[in-house]
Amino acid sequence: MSVTGSDEAAVAAGAQALARGRLVAFPTETVYGLGADARDPDAVGRIFAAKGRPQDHPLICHVASAGDAAALVDEITPDARALADAFWPGPLTLVMTRSPTVPDAVTGGRDTVAVRVPAHPVALALLRAFGGPVAAPSANRFGRPSPTRAADVADELGDAVDVVLDGGPCEIGIESTVVDMTTDPPQVLRPGRISAAQLSQVIGRPVAAQASGPARAPGMLESHYAPGARVEVVESAARAAGRASELANSGSRVALMCEGPVPGAPAQAVVLGPMGDPDDYAARLYAAFRRADAEGCQAIVAVPPPAEGVGAAVRDRLARAAAGR
Ligand code: TXA
Ligand code: MG
Repeated sequence: MSVTGSDEAAVAAGAQALARGRLVAFPTETVYGLGADARDPDAVGRIFAAKGRPQDHPLICHVASAGDAAALVDEITPDARALADAFWPGPLTLVMTRSPTVPDAVTGGRDTVAVRVPAHPVALALLRAFGGPVAAPSANRFGRPSPTRAADVADELGDAVDVVLDGGPCEIGIESTVVDMTTDPPQVLRPGRISAAQLSQVIGRPVAAQASGPARAPGMLESHYAPGARVEVVESAARAAGRASELANSGSRVALMCEGPVPGAPAQAVVLGPMGDPDDYAARLYAAFRRADAEGCQAIVAVPPPAEGVGAAVRDRLARAAAGR
């Protein structure tokens, strides 16, 4: 593995590695992706091996423009076109009926494909230099939090990745909104920075918010996005202080995650914040999970942000991290 900067030469080397069927991790505005040539089933197979990800979990194809997306899909419907015009480049993934040319390795054998144009300048430069679609999941091992810094990618994947382009910390910090455009009404499969209400406003008809309970997107398990520490979600700073004290008294090393200070927190607690407003909370979430693990915490007591803006998606990730552990 080599971690390089993200200047022109580094991007060109990344594009050459993709063309040779190798894996290249790159920054996006959401999280770091682990990319391979989406047209090459062997290269795509290396992604699954590196992540330890089950083969039937489909991947997102990243392209440089909506024009490049057209080659991957059967048809860009008027609604999909309107959403692409409004939100690309940006943190929105559209699930559309696939073109037969997209390998089954990418779609998990489904008749749909997920496509996105990322907004990060390094991601766009890489896609342009490579000149083809790049299949890329988040650059973490299966079931772990997504990486938001190049060093996190190196920690997660080591020599399983050939090149890591370092573009600094990701601005948004949680994964893109995934919306299925093949259903009526369109359905959000994974919440993100762009809400169902924003999508609905653009297309002038309802978009179904994510259903509660087990996630709808294939592979989006309840127990995803989890750090090693057990996550407990409580709704107020006062209750968080009480719960953290209980855990500390019973001998657990405990971390606290909250928008602001937690009055009454036990002195031994590792304070992972203040996490700030919902946008800052999203940007800091996964790095905070990693810090709790690095500090050897067994438990994280988290007070979620309000459900406004990206806060709703942060709450979703916290609930998933807390589930099934
Ligand atoms: O922000 C992001 O989306 C990041 C960056 C790297 O672009 N990528 C990412 O990829 O989060 P991944 O593989 O970790 O998550 C892809 C999500 C999964 O929930 C998957 O089930 C869903 O997209 N997905 C992919 N293809 C799909 C399809 N054909 N139908 C339904 N859901 C699909
Ligand atoms: Mg992922």
